[in-house]
Order: sequence, then structure tokens, then C-alpha cells
Amino acid sequence: MSALNDMKTEIKSITPDVLNEAKNIIFDGGVVAIPTETVYGLGGNAFDDEATKRIFEVKGRPNDNPLIAHVHKDYDLLKIIDYDPPYAKKLRQAFLPGPLTLVYPSTGKVSPYVSCGLHTLAVRIPSHEGAQAFLKAVDIPVVAPSANISKHVSPTSAQHVYDDFHGKIPLILDGGVCEGGIESTVCDVTGDVPVILRPGLITREMIAAVVGDCLEYVPNFASGEKVKSPGVLYKHYSPRCQTTLFTDIVAAKQACQTSILENKRVAVLCESKWIEQFQDENVKILNLGATEEEMASKLYDLLREAEKICDVLVTIEPDKKDGVMVGVLNRLRKACTSVDVPHK
Ligand code: TXA
Ligand code: MG
Repeated sequence: MSALNDMKTEIKSITPDVLNEAKNIIFDGGVVAIPTETVYGLGGNAFDDEATKRIFEVKGRPNDNPLIAHVHKDYDLLKIIDYDPPYAKKLRQAFLPGPLTLVYPSTGKVSPYVSCGLHTLAVRIPSHEGAQAFLKAVDIPVVAPSANISKHVSPTSAQHVYDDFHGKIPLILDGGVCEGGIESTVCDVTGDVPVILRPGLITREMIAAVVGDCLEYVPNFASGEKVKSPGVLYKHYSPRCQTTLFTDIVAAKQACQTSILENKRVAVLCESKWIEQFQDENVKILNLGATEEEMASKLYDLLREAEKICDVLVTIEPDKKDGVMVGVLNRLRKACTSVDVPHK
């Protein structure tokens, strides 16, 4: 296999021949980028230690942040999990295939590098047609973190993946723009009730409506307890420009003016209703839209656009805080964390 950085990276539409090519790469221990309905993933054979290690290496991912195993909709989960609680079955019936990842008790079923020493395995059955076709073709669990360089903004198009990984991976399966736009909800099903570890498009309310109850995990960093979802420890989703999140519109306008006076290129990322407040030829507008689904689907593309067009990005926290916005706000707040420390 070629050394990192000197590989030819091809973006290809998903055809039977290309699926065969992807399958060969996977069984050869390589990495293929795949589309899903949430974001693109960087896929590798979950049974293969070297392939799994390679994913961490290519992404620059900390080696204590576990990966999600992706399977097709007819895959027998009992091959990779130890216990399937009845309420998890209900959740699968209600939401899968779809943007919900379930964390099951599981030991020794896939490469030990996948779960970084935890006795659990995160499993996801994506609904994207291209993802299903790929997973059917390989018919093994494929670990796939979001296909971005660690800490950078997650990718919602094949071009985003290319921008981060050209020269480092051989193949990107082009499945168009991801409709969902933010990563799957990660939900722990190892206890008596489901616990959301990472919010997403399947909301706490939706899960509670199916199984009666659903908790939301809040890491207690101060207590020194072992964090349940190590991903929450890291800075994430960050564009390569100075980014600040404002809740006060007057302060946001002031920040724009200050940066313009310093001859910085300024952009504002906000929901549509605030746009008219920033009519200034020196300010570029990145319109998040109006509904929560629209904001989720546009967020990462706009954060990637921001780093191309501005030095300073002023963002304004949307008014809505519940439902899908819990996930959108989680990403937006992390994107605006300028230092590498936890942000709830
Ligand atoms: O939508 C998605 O989930 C995308 C697409 C590609 O499927 N994948 C994705 O993977 O977002 P990644 O690696 O970027 O995020 C996985 C998250 C991390 O926060 C990680 O800590 C958590 O899932 N996770 C994985 N395995 C876990 C486990 N066994 N226990 C707790 N958290 C786990
Ligand atoms: Mg990620």
C-alpha cells in the first residue's frame, strides 16, 4: 500500500464496478470514504486491526476515541454484540435504518482498536442508499468516523472529503450531498433506559416517545469520572478561522465593526431572521436558514465556506433550543471553542 500523502485520490459515482473496487480496497486493509445520510465517513474493515489503526492515523484521531461499526440493514447484529435489550429492538424498529447509533455491550467481537478498550460497541445502520449498497457489497461491519481531519469540520459532500484527504486515501464514493448534515445521535443501550451520549437528528423526545424514557448524558469533567463518550472531550467541528458565538445581537454587530476596522475579512453565520441586521458591504453573510432541519443540513458546508472567505467568523446562537436544535447547538458551540477544552 502507498505511503501516506502520495496516493491518487479518486471521487467516483457508485456503480457495481466501483463497489467492487471499494470492496477490494476494504478487504486489502485500506480505507474508503463513504456517503451516509448524516455526514461522509472514512470506512475500514472492523475486524482488521491494521485497517482500524490506519483510520486513526489518517484522521489524526486521538486513540481513546472509539469508532462506530456500520452494517447493512439485514446484518445479524448478534454477530457483533453481546446483548440486545428489548427496548433497543423497539428503537431499531422505529428509527433504523437512519441517523441513530446504538451503543451495546460487546467484548472481543471486532478489532480491539475499534472501541479503545471499552466493553461496548457503537453500531449504526445508515439509511443512505449508497451506504447500504456498499455495506451489502462488503457484508462485514465497517468502522467509519466522520471523514474529516480530526477536529476539523465534518464533511457533507465528496468534495469536503477530498479537501481533507486527497493524497491520503484512494477512493471516495460520491453519494451526493448528505441531507441530514449533522452526525447520528449516539445512544447508550447498555443500561435500563437509553442515554443519549451525542445529540442528533433523532431527538430525546422521539426516543422517549417510543420506549417511555430517555436520559441525556452530561459529563462531569470536574469529578474526574471516566467520560462515557470520549468524543465529547475534544475540540471538534472547527473551521480554520477565528470563530466566536454570540447570543447578543448588539455585541455581534460590534464584533463585526471591530474586525472590519482591523482590516480583517468578516463573515456572519446566522439564522435568516438576523440577516438584515448585517447589511454591510464589508460583511459576508452565511445564511443558516429558518427551520432546524435546514440549519442542521447547512451548518458544516457553511463552516467550511467560512474558512475560505473570512478571517473572522461571527456566529449567532439560534433562538430555538430544543428538538433537533440540541444537536445543532452542540456542534455550533464546539465549532466556536477556540481552545482544546471540553465544551458541554
Ligand atoms: O453520523 C455518524 O455517526 C457518522 C457517520 C459517518 O456515520 N460517524 C461519526 O463517527 O460521527 P465519529 O467517529 O466522528 O463519532 C463517533 C462518536 C464519538 O463521539 C465517539 O466517542 C462515540 O461515537 N462512540 C463510538 N463508540 C463508542 C462507544 N463504544 N461508547 C461510547 N461512545 C462511543
Ligand atoms: Mg467526528
